[in-house]
Amino acid sequence: MRSRQRAAWGLDPMKLGLETAIVDTQVLDRTAARCRERNILLPTFAQLADPDSIPDSVWSALAAVDPDTPHPMNLFRVHWFNDDGRTGRAAVPAHVVLPPSITGTDAIIVVAFGDRFPMIRAHKVLAAYGCLAPRLATGQFDPTTQRALWPSTGNYCRGGVAISRLLGCRSAAVLPEGMSRERFEWLDRWTEGPDEIIKTPGTESNVKEIYDACTELEADPQNLVLNQFCDFGNHVAHRLCTGRALERLARQVQADRPGTHPALFVSATGSAGTLGAGDHLKGAFGLKCAAVEPLECPTLLYNGYGEHNIQGIGDRHVPLIHNVMGTDLVIGVTDRATDHLLVLLNTDVGRAHLADQHDISGLLLDAFRSMGLSSLANVIASIKAAKRLGLGRDDIVLTVATDGAAMYASEIERISVRDFPSGFDAGDAGEAFESWLSGATTDHVLELETMDRERIFNLGYFTWVEQQGVSLAAFEARRSREFWDGLPSLARSWDEHIIDLNHRSGVRT
Ligand SMILES: Cc1ncc(COP(=O)(O)O)c(C=O)c1O
Repeated sequence: MRSRQRAAWGLDPMKLGLETAIVDTQVLDRTAARCRERNILLPTFAQLADPDSIPDSVWSALAAVDPDTPHPMNLFRVHWFNDDGRTGRAAVPAHVVLPPSITGTDAIIVVAFGDRFPMIRAHKVLAAYGCLAPRLATGQFDPTTQRALWPSTGNYCRGGVAISRLLGCRSAAVLPEGMSRERFEWLDRWTEGPDEIIKTPGTESNVKEIYDACTELEADPQNLVLNQFCDFGNHVAHRLCTGRALERLARQVQADRPGTHPALFVSATGSAGTLGAGDHLKGAFGLKCAAVEPLECPTLLYNGYGEHNIQGIGDRHVPLIHNVMGTDLVIGVTDRATDHLLVLLNTDVGRAHLADQHDISGLLLDAFRSMGLSSLANVIASIKAAKRLGLGRDDIVLTVATDGAAMYASEIERISVRDFPSGFDAGDAGEAFESWLSGATTDHVLELETMDRERIFNLGYFTWVEQQGVSLAAFEARRSREFWDGLPSLARSWDEHIIDLNHRSGVRT
């Protein structure tokens, strides 16, 4: 995307994470000095999209680095090709192929695991890097003086805090006070004090309250808000890195099962960053893209609102970086389903039921440990869409598990006490399995026509133009495919600046 084109579209490059020119060389000098002091080498977008291009010297050095520490080398693990131990390299992203006995459909549902990512065990660290790296490399953010603010419902802000920590820059997570206990425990361990965790009122869907807090904090020029919901670095990182990783995975599945083809990509939407992978996959395979949201907060499906417990998604607005006109289906999943499956898949009673009644054991049973609440929503939505579209044994459905069950141990307790006061028994396990997996129905699945897409697209106006001050021209530009097709080229410019910054810092492996 050229700067003349951006200007014609009324885009504010710095605010929306679209800047490709050097903004401040003095800031850049200080950033290079910081990288030198801390021995930080920044990976390019191209390296994270294709980790085979990461030099062998880096892979060798990584072998001795703990993936759960703020070690700078962990930036080279911010991709999908970490092995199960999270220290080595995998040929294809870690994943599971769900059998028809679980899904009740012949379609081949493939779930890629985000819990192999470093530091936060969730793929949102990729979104955080995608938003920050271009700003570091173009001198828009000074890590020696400024504070990075990470508005989120829990995983993106953890990714941002982790990267800020290894950079040695000030930061703060901005998130609703009602998110899971495990998120806050992680933040307590990785931050240096309570002023680095800014709690806003409400839970999952209270994004407006997060924006309001950020607007106040932004009054101080030392604070830089990295807003994942309107930062195109998030989209570009997923389009290139998640998109290409899933493409490689799909080609492996095709090689293992000749005659199959990818038909659908399914992703629950929070910031809609992950959905960016769908734009790449559409180009590669011509498949359809489905956006998933909680039925209790069906903003896209019914222009509805409400509270729900599918943590990480359903943020009660249409993100600026959601390519609505390129979306083909919207699927509503009830949080009752994700809550009950979380209990089924992570309790002794539930796991015994799976082993005894459905012959699910070993690696397949282990795979469920890699699925948190939104991951289960993706699985359920994949089943619903496969049934609705009549997909069969030759059709591959690709989806992701953003984070694993470890982030929700306290939720398992809470849900069990609330919904199974006399204990979760074999009958409850059977019912959860039949209702939400093999027996999942096709209700609340909308195949989008042009008018549906326009309705959803137009809904975004109220957040972005009226509330957040994005120009009408910039908002409207996103209606055209040309706009979205121009975005991946930004990464080429960012990569040139990242390489230049690495030269300036002189850090080598
Ligand atoms: C657990 C979880 N699932 C899904 C999502 C949604 O991903 P995206 O923001 O890329 O749409 C998020 C986002 O924070 C998340 O934390």
